[in-house]
Amino acid sequence: MNKLNLGVLASGRGSNLQAIIDACAAGRLPARVAVVISDNGNAFALERARRAGIPAVHVDMGDFPGKAEYERQIAGVLKEHGVDLVCLAGYMRLVGNGLLDAFPGRIMNIHPALLPAFPGLHAQEQAWCYGVKFSGCTVHFVDEGMDTGPIILQAVVPVYDDDTADTLAERILEQEHRIYPEAIRLFCEGKLEVRGRKVYIK
Ligand code: GAR
Repeated sequence: MNKLNLGVLASGRGSNLQAIIDACAAGRLPARVAVVISDNGNAFALERARRAGIPAVHVDMGDFPGKAEYERQIAGVLKEHGVDLVCLAGYMRLVGNGLLDAFPGRIMNIHPALLPAFPGLHAQEQAWCYGVKFSGCTVHFVDEGMDTGPIILQAVVPVYDDDTADTLAERILEQEHRIYPEAIRLFCEGKLEVRGRKVYIK
């Protein structure tokens, strides 16, 4: 099977990026990470990419007059590297039309809550403060909304009485590292079919 080229966008420490790199290296994912892009020059994700011999690119929003131009630059870098699927991995910006139009139906995101509950920032803390008994994570296709696109995979974790937002986040992160590479694998193998809001696994 031909390997797909992944482009990963990450703003921070990049543990999901690492899970994807490791899954590719272990042959669990018929893909390669072709480029990693960050809006944050200090993101550890960029360092992880360099260590793995993957091109690491910082695109600074401040260098552009607006979001459209910034996203056009990112889309250009992704195309230059022949990217087939864009994976948001802790990318802390709302994606706009500049990227959506360049990669229609080909952008995925991992979110640390059971969507549609607790979209947006600090989802683990939102869930913990709310007092839910279960939370988890969601891999979904990206649309113009905030964490609103069709859901591909979810994983559930319990919330215990002695949890803090941090211990809950750690439990969720373990599942993120499991289901994100799995969702990407399904995409690479052509097993995902989107009909309206629903994603069917063939
Ligand atoms: C992950 O928990 C990811 O789900 C979350 O940021 C963290 C990034 O960690 N993403 C969002 O909250 C997006 N709204 P990582 O940099 O170690 O992969």
